[in-house]
Amino acid sequence: MTEQTPVVTGRFGAESSDTYDGYTRTGGYEGLRAALEMSPDQIIDMVKAAGLRGRGGAGFPTGVKWGFIPRERKPTYLVCNADEGEPGTFKDRELMERDPHQLIEGIAIASYAIEAAQAYIYCRGEFAFAGRQLERAIAEAYDQGILGKRVAGSDYSLDVILHRGAGAYICGEETALLESLEGKRGQPRLRPPFPATNGLYDQPTVVNNVETLSTVPHIIKNGADWFKQWGTEKSPGTKMFCVSGDVERPGNYEGPLGMPVREVIDGFAGGVKGGKKLKAFTPGGSSTPLLTAAHLDAGMDFESIAAAGSLLGTGAIIVLAEDACMVRATYRFMKFYEHESCGKCTPCREGCFWLSQVLHRIENGSGRSEDMKLLTDVSNNIFGRSFCAFGDGAVSPVLSSVKYFADEYTEHIAKKGCPFER
Ligand SMILES: Cc1cc2nc3c(=O)[nH]c(=O)nc-3n(C[C@H](O)[C@H](O)[C@H](O)COP(=O)(O)O)c2cc1C
Repeated sequence: MTEQTPVVTGRFGAESSDTYDGYTRTGGYEGLRAALEMSPDQIIDMVKAAGLRGRGGAGFPTGVKWGFIPRERKPTYLVCNADEGEPGTFKDRELMERDPHQLIEGIAIASYAIEAAQAYIYCRGEFAFAGRQLERAIAEAYDQGILGKRVAGSDYSLDVILHRGAGAYICGEETALLESLEGKRGQPRLRPPFPATNGLYDQPTVVNNVETLSTVPHIIKNGADWFKQWGTEKSPGTKMFCVSGDVERPGNYEGPLGMPVREVIDGFAGGVKGGKKLKAFTPGGSSTPLLTAAHLDAGMDFESIAAAGSLLGTGAIIVLAEDACMVRATYRFMKFYEHESCGKCTPCREGCFWLSQVLHRIENGSGRSEDMKLLTDVSNNIFGRSFCAFGDGAVSPVLSSVKYFADEYTEHIAKKGCPFER
């Protein structure tokens, strides 16, 4: 079994790691205390130097994002994206359940760096336990003088509010999230302007993922070079990989960015279930193009996965074994996108519905000879043409499965049904 490199998962399994006492016993809030001795610009420079990139999917450099916040316009806001709806992704939930103070510390440091006096956590509604853990940890942090007036005895004050979502995947998209937080229907906004200048309540806002913010205290405490000892030049540090599907030991594992996919699947997750061969996998959740056994030596970093033809996304590896039906799997993914499309733009609203219909009929024996072309046409009319990135993600499983597994589609259509027994 491959050894993990625990940074953000370092306290998992430690006694009372989810309480203030347990957290501070293991060096918790030392990063915040160090940050409060620094200027906001020094913190931003350090995060830039560490090369930390967003762990929510897009991989945007975190320090650069913070540096976009104009200093002259107040108030500014920090929003933690804890919506985690991407199928196959379950890292933020575990971070919030098992180490909520680490996230609060990251939020406090980030808020101080962008001079925000108010931060929000937008937590996925279904995460009942994570929500309760955060609620309790926030209350503890207020009691201990970590939040509220005079953060950790400094002149800086910060309030953190926990907001629960209501179960819409689109509310993970940062501008839809801001709409929802303002009490409106969760639908994406047109960009530009970007949240950095016109975010929550039209004020400068940083939106960062739970894992991104949970990494920040470690960088401040240990320095940029320490962080860069792992990963690649352009994708430094460690990352949580969520492994699910046909593997022996599904779960969250932390390792250096750039480690081969094969090692994550075999070394961490115990390999494909029952010793079967791997047929396909998503490297970063259901919105990232499927890859195949030919890509198992690719590194799990932003550049290597892009070179292999996909996206690192959230680092969520969903494994499909040799006996999995790719048409059925693609239909299941599409059913999700059909259900979750927010309906704001026509290509996504109508296209996802039709893709789901066509996939359903192929899988169930009514596929037509022109259906593969139809799937590709509809997908190409969604890709790059929808209002937000949801559309591009939604067609990823369709385009990639047609690309790599065209013969399975043809067989379904010719045999008028699914040839797989599983
Ligand atoms: C449809 C859609 C859903 C998304 N869902 C999430 C999510 O659940 N959590 C998240 O952190 N980012 C999500 N994102 C990405 C966010 O828009 C944004 O890039 C991210 O929160 C920025 O944080 P980071 O820079 O720390 O990664 C989603 C994007 C799209 C297009």
